[in-house]
Amino acid sequence: MNAESRARLDQTPEWTALAGHRDRLGEVQLRELFAADPARGTAYTLQVGDLHIDYSKHLVTGETLTLLRELAAATDVFGLRDAMFRGEKINTTEDRAVLHTALRAPRGSVVEVDGENVVPAVHAVLDKMTAFSEKVRSGEWTGHTGKRIKNVVNIGIGGSDLGPAMAYETLRSFTDRGLTVRFVSNVDGADLHEAVRDLDAAETLFIIASKTFTTIETITNATSARDWLLTELKASQDAVAKHFVALSTNAEKVSDFGIDTDNMFEFWDWVGGRYSYDSAIGLSLMIAIGPDRFREMLDGFHLVDEHFRTAPAESNVPLLMGLLGIWYGNFHDAQSHAVLPYSHYLSKFTAYLQQLDMESNGKYVGRDGKEVDWQTGPVVWGTPGTNGQHAYYQLIHQGTKLIPADFIGFAEPVADLLPGLVAQHDLLMANFFAQTQALAFGKTPDEVRAEGVAEELVPHKTFKGNHPTTTILAKELTPSVLGQLIALYEHKVFVQGAVWNIDSFDQWGVELGKVLAKRVEPALTEGAEVPDLDGSTTALVAKYRDLRGR
Ligand code: F6P
Repeated sequence: MNAESRARLDQTPEWTALAGHRDRLGEVQLRELFAADPARGTAYTLQVGDLHIDYSKHLVTGETLTLLRELAAATDVFGLRDAMFRGEKINTTEDRAVLHTALRAPRGSVVEVDGENVVPAVHAVLDKMTAFSEKVRSGEWTGHTGKRIKNVVNIGIGGSDLGPAMAYETLRSFTDRGLTVRFVSNVDGADLHEAVRDLDAAETLFIIASKTFTTIETITNATSARDWLLTELKASQDAVAKHFVALSTNAEKVSDFGIDTDNMFEFWDWVGGRYSYDSAIGLSLMIAIGPDRFREMLDGFHLVDEHFRTAPAESNVPLLMGLLGIWYGNFHDAQSHAVLPYSHYLSKFTAYLQQLDMESNGKYVGRDGKEVDWQTGPVVWGTPGTNGQHAYYQLIHQGTKLIPADFIGFAEPVADLLPGLVAQHDLLMANFFAQTQALAFGKTPDEVRAEGVAEELVPHKTFKGNHPTTTILAKELTPSVLGQLIALYEHKVFVQGAVWNIDSFDQWGVELGKVLAKRVEPALTEGAEVPDLDGSTTALVAKYRDLRGR
């Protein structure tokens, strides 16, 4: 079904049926749903790979799920999925295939773009990354002065930063602890300053990660890093070769920057920036955790890719997660979605998902070029538990907004945790289980009264409950499990974009700000003419110059 021939989503019988069902269901109570079906806690669960998914605490009945799946069928989600896996150019506004799934396709498989099998090229780059990582990890690759590399600084932004930075943090317990690995993204010089101020340049490798190799933040930071290195080493340009490598699709720009294209790790235009950390963009991660662990992570991704590609609708986890989001966003007016990992190692996980989800589905124009009349991507937010419990959980429990949430937890603490800290894991997980319980079932006024609470305090101490959550539980946080989790969310985002009929793979909304920044920048320098900006911006620029004494 092509985008133009599709009926308006909100005019389809499946949408109308869901709206009617929502009205009939009214304020259905999770307490009632569990009372009516004591097996719900086990029946409403799925398993994919190492991930146990409990969706019993959702405001849904069997009928809701059937109607949601009918909406997915009517909008041909699986048709678009198959087109994606086949390498068709489903990113229509950029005329590109969408094949991050090929990045984790096993050696020997066939995925074609424009009639060419891309899998051999994917593995050739992985092999090149492997050889390079091993050289750095073993000390065979040395800097300009012959010193061993002990520090790796990745310079990139957006998808060229968030993925490797998040995965490095997540898999810290698998990293070579003798290496210092840092990530610089912000054009604020403070970022690079803090990253390099205590490093020995002779022991430092910079990885310049940029799909386009034109992104102003990255090129500016890379240029400054090169200046810093050459100054510190009192060396000439030829020192760059041993201290700079590039990850990019743009060999010409890499070479213009002064990096030998032999030291470039390639990827392709069919890999979206926010879907790229399992490509060459993951080089810093591969150096940190080693090639074997990196490949385990790719296998985790692939496992969920295969699940998404082949599992029937009833047991297809990304489909379910996408449809639940649609149920709340489009039929309950939920504006946001919280992702709350109960692992300190997942501290950057939600920030990573923000780009994945919000850059993909934050769009008001459909594939047909017309404005949509329905809500699209939610605001995604959250930080690791238990910290959030002492900050914003109050609003989730007793605020006026409906905030569906994913809780992610692990049965085991990481393997290398100090033995004295292992006992704390049960306390962490007790909180994990308690929160979804409290959110779902709350506390009635009678239960509060039964505790002897003064009547005037009863409303304050009552929890209405009925806040929907998904629980994702795995045995332990391994590279494979991380790959499985990320692929799950990638495909969830895909499902939602397919239903909403938007192109989840472009990002035109980031362009205007870039263009305007280029226009404003010259006006900030001393004595420059202020261009014809709007009244507010002109006044702010004048104020800035005044404060800077310009
Ligand atoms: O500005 C948004 C964006 O294009 C992202 O989609 C991308 O991940 C990021 O910038 C970085 O782009 P590049 O890898 O080309 O430097």
